[in-house]
Amino acid sequence: MEILFFSRRFSSPAAPVYTQSVNFRPIPMNSLLFSPFRIRDITLKNRVGVAPMCQYSATDGIAGPWHVVHLGSRAVGGAGLVFVEAAAVSAGARISDGDIGIWNDAHVAAFRPITAFAKSLGATPGIQLAHAGRKGSTQKPWQGRKMVDVHEGGWTTVAPSALPFNDEYPMPAAMTEDDMARVIDDFVQAAQRSLDAGFDVLELHMGHGYLLHEFLSPLSNLRTDAWGGSFEGRTAFPLSLAKAVRAQWPSRLPLFVRISATDWVDGGWDLDQSIQFARLLREAGVDLVDCSSGSIVPGSRGEPAPGFQVPLAAAIRKEAQVATAAVGLITEARQAEEILVQEQADLVLIGRALLADPYWPLRAQGQLDGTSAWPIQYDRAVNPNALT
Ligand code: FNR
Repeated sequence: MEILFFSRRFSSPAAPVYTQSVNFRPIPMNSLLFSPFRIRDITLKNRVGVAPMCQYSATDGIAGPWHVVHLGSRAVGGAGLVFVEAAAVSAGARISDGDIGIWNDAHVAAFRPITAFAKSLGATPGIQLAHAGRKGSTQKPWQGRKMVDVHEGGWTTVAPSALPFNDEYPMPAAMTEDDMARVIDDFVQAAQRSLDAGFDVLELHMGHGYLLHEFLSPLSNLRTDAWGGSFEGRTAFPLSLAKAVRAQWPSRLPLFVRISATDWVDGGWDLDQSIQFARLLREAGVDLVDCSSGSIVPGSRGEPAPGFQVPLAAAIRKEAQVATAAVGLITEARQAEEILVQEQADLVLIGRALLADPYWPLRAQGQLDGTSAWPIQYDRAVNPNALT
């Protein structure tokens, strides 16, 4: 029987389509995980994304060979969406001096080959824009994550309120309205630079205890002015920022927001507030809410169990009527597929499993669909009848 065995899905028009005669029981290609996902004018080739993950390996915020290989490998590995880690919108927005940045033209130039390579493989390049707020000016994790004083090369951190993350973190300066206007401008300019660098998806980091989450959570926002207090007050700055970025980011391209959907702390930010906030984000033109959790105060993380944050994505999707991404201890192909089948999320982001194995998507596709689109250069690894 002559059947289609390997179909190549390269952008190259010359990409061959192999057929071969084998005693082969075809499995229909019908997984949701490996079906395309259209959002605004962008079509992701599948619903597996690389979660944004800091590499702490940049110098002056500039992506280098590590990032080229790291992100390039994940594009080779078949992810439909390849997110660059939290990229600082200014030098003072970084967590550490190894953070990647997008505040000047050198950053744009360094990203261009990365986005071009991802696109050449049919992957969509995305970037997460971030400001570390009171969690900035620290060492890299493998140096101990201790605070770095200004006289040691660190910088003054800012936050909604003069309240440090803990005793070992710098005391942040409470932001003035001028500071807030400057941060919004930094994000808007970073959005323009992201476009110039070739990114097609933009994500605003509003989770994990960084600046925008610090405004949302009553545990870190103690302001008594219009930018704190009530739900409306605490969401006002992140929402204004999202609107300003949406106005800059082309309407053909999707805008995501990552939130910590709960602080996991009594009296903190919680799922109900996330649902209300997600509605406001949707009305502001945000296309997808990426649902993580925790990290606003030391030790505030959920109980890690497979898919432990998926119910947050499911509730927000259902109640706020907005697309969501699920992330967090999603490690198996069938687990990821089930999340989509159950309509708990629209995308699945994979973090550590994709660090351990850049080919996770290709393997998952093989498990679910019985075939996967390995790059032709690697044909001899997977196809016993390879011609190369
Ligand atoms: C992360 N995570 C993360 N999250 C984020 O929003 N921006 C970031 O830059 C980073 N950086 C980062 C670095 C490293 C090394 C890890 C492991 C994680 C969190 C990440 O995106 C994801 O939400 C978690 O890792 C949970 O997903 P997994 O790893 O269980 O699939």
